[in-house]
Order: sequence, then C-alpha cells, then structure tokens
Amino acid sequence: MSPILYLLLASYSLLAAGKQCANVTVPVNIQARQALFNVPALHGNADATYFAQLFTNIGRNYTDDALAGYQSVTGTYEISAKFCHPDRGTGGNGTVQFLIHGMGFDKSYWDLPFNNYNYSYIDLAVDKYGFCTVSIDRLGIGNSSHADPLNVVQAPAEVSAIYEITKMLRGGTFPGVTAKFHKVAHVGHSFGSVQSYMLSALDPSVSDALVLTGWSNNHTWLPQTLADWNIHLARLNQPLRFGSPALDFVSTLLAKPNVPSNSRPDLVAVLSKAFQDLGVDLDNDDLWEIIATTEIGDIINGANDTVPPVPQDLPSGYVTWSDYTANQFAFLTPPFFDPAIGLFAESTKQPVTLGEIFTLGNGAPETTPFTGPVLVFTGRQDAIYCGGDCLAAGGDSDSIPEQARTAFPNARSFEVYIQPDIGHGISFHYNSTAAYEVIQKWLVQQGLGGSYM
Ligand SMILES: *[C@@H]1O[C@H](CO)[C@@H](O)[C@H](O)[C@H]1NC(C)=O
Ligand SMILES: *[C@@H]1O[C@H](CO)[C@@H](O)[C@H](O)[C@H]1NC(C)=O
Ligand SMILES: *[C@@H]1O[C@H](CO)[C@@H](O)[C@H](O)[C@H]1NC(C)=O
Ligand SMILES: *[C@@H]1O[C@H](CO)[C@@H](O)[C@H](O)[C@H]1NC(C)=O
Ligand SMILES: *[C@@H]1O[C@H](CO)[C@@H](O)[C@H](O)[C@H]1NC(C)=O
Ligand SMILES: *[C@@H]1O[C@H](CO)[C@@H](O)[C@H](O)[C@H]1NC(C)=O
Ligand SMILES: *[C@@H]1O[C@H](CO)[C@@H](O)[C@H](O)[C@H]1NC(C)=O
Ligand SMILES: *[C@@H]1O[C@H](CO)[C@@H](O)[C@H](O)[C@H]1NC(C)=O
Repeated sequence: MSPILYLLLASYSLLAAGKQCANVTVPVNIQARQALFNVPALHGNADATYFAQLFTNIGRNYTDDALAGYQSVTGTYEISAKFCHPDRGTGGNGTVQFLIHGMGFDKSYWDLPFNNYNYSYIDLAVDKYGFCTVSIDRLGIGNSSHADPLNVVQAPAEVSAIYEITKMLRGGTFPGVTAKFHKVAHVGHSFGSVQSYMLSALDPSVSDALVLTGWSNNHTWLPQTLADWNIHLARLNQPLRFGSPALDFVSTLLAKPNVPSNSRPDLVAVLSKAFQDLGVDLDNDDLWEIIATTEIGDIINGANDTVPPVPQDLPSGYVTWSDYTANQFAFLTPPFFDPAIGLFAESTKQPVTLGEIFTLGNGAPETTPFTGPVLVFTGRQDAIYCGGDCLAAGGDSDSIPEQARTAFPNARSFEVYIQPDIGHGISFHYNSTAAYEVIQKWLVQQGLGGSYM
C-alpha cells in the first residue's frame, strides 16, 4: 500500500471513531391550545406536598378542579438542541432520529457522559448505525426557555415545539443543517413518548416512525409515582443549580470557611465534627450514606470553588423529586444499575413543571390515526408505566405496554419489546446499549436506516 493511501486510510479510521455534534439554540414559534390552570402559589416545600396530596386524592380529579378554562399559547421560545451526524456527513436521504427525553432529565439522557459515554444512545445510533440525531431540551427544561411553569410549559406547547423543529429538519431550515431529511423517526422516553404520541395524532404525516420507550398507555401508577417523588421546589432542592443567583444563601454558603464549597468528602468531615460535638460518633460510611442518599446531597450539588454556580432562578412551579432514593424508586431497578450512575443521575437531574404534571396523563387522544410503524420499548421492571413488572398484565394481554395496541388502529405495524432487567430510566442501566441496539435494528428493518452503515 502506498504510504499516502495508508495515511489517508489511517486518518479516515481515526475520524470514523467519533460522532460530530453541535449545540444549537433553535428559536421556535409555538402555537398551542391548552389548559389554563388556577392553583394556589407554592411558597415552599409543604405547599408542594399539598399539591401532591390534592393530586393523588382518590376522591377528586384535581386536574378538573384546577382547570379554569382554555387558552392559546403563542410566541417564540428558544429550544436548546444537539445535532449529531456521522463523521461522513449529514447525508440527505438517511433518517434523522428525533430524541425526546422524559421528566426529570434533559437531552443528555441520550448521551450520558458517565463512564466515558459507554451508556450513550447517540454514540450507538450515530457511530455504529450511521444515523443523524437531534436531541432537544424540552421547553422549560435544561437550556431551553424557562417559561411559565403552570400555564405555558404543558404538553401541548412542548408538542408544538417538537412539531416546528420536525418541519425544520424536513425543510432544511434547522439552524446549521442544510440537509433536508425525508425521514424523521421520533424516539421518546416516558413523557417524551407521550409527546411523540400526541404529535402523531396532531399531524400523522409528520413522523415516519414512533419509538416509544419507557411507556405504556396505562396510567395506573402515575399517582404512586408522584407520591414517591415527594416533590419539593426545585429552587430549594438544588439551590446552586435551580435557585436564585441573588439569594444570599449561595454566596454565604460559599463564603463560610467551615462549610465545604467544593466537595462532598469535605462535608463528611464537617458533619462528623458537628455530630462529635453533640456527643455522637458516626463513622464516615454512615455520614456519606446520609449525604448521598438524602436531600443533603442535593442541597450542596453544583458547588464548585473554581467555577461559580450559575443557578437557573426557577420560579416555584418548577419542582423535583426529593432525593436519590425517590429517584431510585421511579427510575432505577436494583441490581441492574451502578449506584454511581444513580448518584450521577441525581446530581444532573432536571425539574418538572406543574403544567407538565397536569398534562402527563390528561389530554392525549385515546387513539392516533398514525399510519407508520410503531415500536413500544419498555424495561420489564418499569415502575412508572408497569408498576414494576410489565409482564404482570393479568392474562388480558401479553404485557402491559401491549395494551396500547388499540391506540394505533391504522399503524402499519405495532410491536412491543419488553427489555429484561431494566427499570424506567433505561439509559442508566448496565444493559442500556444492548437494549438500544434493538431499536436501531428495528429502524433499519423498517427501511429507516441511517445514511451510512
Ligand atoms: C455542548 O454543550 C455541552 C454542555 O454544555 C458541552 O459539554 C459541549 O462541549 C458542547 N459541545 C460543543 C460541540 O460545543
Ligand atoms: C380529570 O379532569 C380532566 C380535566 O377536566 C379530564 O380531562 C380527565 O378526563 C379527568 N380524569 C378522569 C379520570 O376523569
Ligand atoms: C438522495 O436521493 C436522491 C434521489 O434518489 C439522489 O439523487 C441523491 O444523490 C441522494 N443524496 C444523498 C446525499 O445520498
Ligand atoms: C460501562 O462500563 C462499565 C464499567 O466498565 C460496565 O460495568 C457497564 O456495563 C458499561 N455500560 C454499558 C452500557 O456499556
Ligand atoms: C444555552 O443557551 C444560550 C442562549 O440561550 C447559548 O448561548 C448557549 O450556548 C447554550 N448552551 C448550550 C450548552 O446549549
Ligand atoms: C469544578 O468545575 C471544573 C470545571 O468544570 C471541574 O473541572 C472540576 O472538576 C469541578 N470541581 C468539582 C469539585 O466538582
Ligand atoms: C392497567 O394494567 C393493569 C394490569 O394489567 C390492569 O389491571 C388495568 O386494567 C390496566 N388499566 C388500564 C386503564 O388499562
Ligand atoms: C441485554 O439486552 C439484550 C437486548 O434486549 C438482551 O438480548 C440480553 O439478553 C440482555 N442481557 C442481559 C445480561 O440482560
């Protein structure tokens, strides 16, 4: 082989090793007709708990009680997106996968940096299967516009944003991407699956395939999930990420000489001393356990001596589950995950809005006229959509997600895959990439492959 050809080949394979991604802020004109809710302002965590008490009360429909009317929401909002393509280009005829995260996370759910990205959906889809992907922070979440949490950030407005971005991908007007994608597959997780479903009902022609992960259409376990979450105001739960930058609390916390500003082990030392002063000797393992698995870990999360935190200053209608243990109950099934990724998930979690809680289980039509192929892909141990066992369908159907078949009367095909040994937060479990490989193969089988294989 000529040295030059060899060099070319060598550099090609080097390049072939990595996806190419860009962060893009997409201005989107949203247009949605949705509920106008009236609920008492949440002043603190106890008010958030009262909201959950009313919401889960067996004797009432709090969504209906809070419903004050309907309204049109219009306006331009910013959606933070990440566009990735194989290093051989964006193609033009391949499929772009539109990845829509669920509650409590953001677009990084699809590309977790944990353990050198070895849990990454995007690495698999782009590097191994040659797909382009676009993953967004849903409206209100992460780096997207933090709009009114009760009456703007609801499912219909978020679906509108997804609709507009889908049209940009098809029309070659997505910022920085000139390719016109003829095929868009919507891949959701949990609330992102709910929204993909709603999108397909809004305009069935806008999607070429639906992959609904972490989903069933059985809402039996939503109240138990809200109860588990023990919701607190996001700004109080992780003040350094979600609180007010003006709060003296932040600067005071960082300035206090005896309060650790940069690491949890420091806090172990501080707490250890405090307990000793009170005459109680707790060993470091117990102290670490207290910090890591309770809200204490959340309260100091984001502290960093060298890079000051930039809290998002979220209003009180942005809430989050209380701590690591609440996260585990809803999203993580032992022993199928690494506790370290659980801590990572807790430290990078995102809030949920009251408008989202109201519209998670309300407002989606019972059926969608969608005609393309549908894959429902849910971990067998999913707590939120299967109550912990998707196969416990009581004999009426093969699985709980299978009950959704009737919602897709016109679909070209409807398949359910129950992934063993994985809970609701699929990306956080050991076998996530093998699970995600099933999805890539399914898309290819449907004739919706990437540009480059
Ligand atoms: C995109 O944003 C993420 C999160 O801030 C950052 O880690 C990453 O380096 C950015 N990527 C590019 C290509 O700028
Ligand atoms: C609760 O009220 C909402 C709003 O009126 C309605 O859409 C929903 O169907 C009701 N849920 C039940 C279970 O009746
Ligand atoms: C896309 O398909 C058209 C028609 O088959 C073809 O002319 C064009 O070269 C293809 N583009 C790419 C980037 O493959
Ligand atoms: C990532 O790497 C860890 C440690 O090597 C391994 O235990 C885990 O199964 C891997 N996860 C995935 C999704 O490949
Ligand atoms: C977040 O959004 C701002 C503008 O809204 C933008 O300047 C910044 O690059 C974005 N960061 C990421 C990680 O997308
Ligand atoms: C603080 O932030 C810097 C830059 O992002 C990072 O390298 C460092 O690990 C952080 N320190 C802690 C204690 O998290
Ligand atoms: C949800 O699934 C359970 C268990 O299979 C079943 O008993 C119940 O009827 C289902 N509910 C709905 C609304 O389909
Ligand atoms: C991992 O997931 C794949 C795809 O569903 C499955 O075939 C395999 O049995 C799983 N492995 C384990 C150890 O659960």
